[in-house]
Amino acid sequence: MAPAPACSRSKTCGRTSRCAPHRQAVDDVSLSILARTDPGLVGESGCGKSVTAHSIMRLIPTPPGRSQGARFLFEGQDLVKLSEARMRRIRATASP
Ligand SMILES: Nc1ncnc2c1ncn2[C@@H]1O[C@H](COP(=O)(O)OP(=O)(O)O)[C@@H](O)[C@H]1O
Ligand SMILES: [Mg+2]
Repeated sequence: MAPAPACSRSKTCGRTSRCAPHRQAVDDVSLSILARTDPGLVGESGCGKSVTAHSIMRLIPTPPGRSQGARFLFEGQDLVKLSEARMRRIRATASP
């Protein structure tokens, strides 16, 4: 039997034609990024790098996507709780 798709087990979900309703794309990710560094996220294709990064920056459209129980701490603030206006400012200033 073919292995289950990676998107069947995650807590971050974007419901698109690529993934059936309520599929989970990434599950239980935890990472820390040092200030003033340029980190890379490495992994095999489809392991969830893009979904993870987009979720942190709140670039997965909600609905249909959502992050369950997520906390993204940046300079002492939880990005999950910020207004969209504040997120836009953070995205603009965090860009290289
Ligand atoms: N918008 C989305 N909605 C639902 N599932 C998605 C979406 N984007 C990617 N996926 C699924 O999430 C998993 C991780 O994809 P992705 O983060 O793009 O991998 P990577 O960037 O590591 O190659 C894959 O199974 C992919 O099909
Ligand atoms: Mg990718």
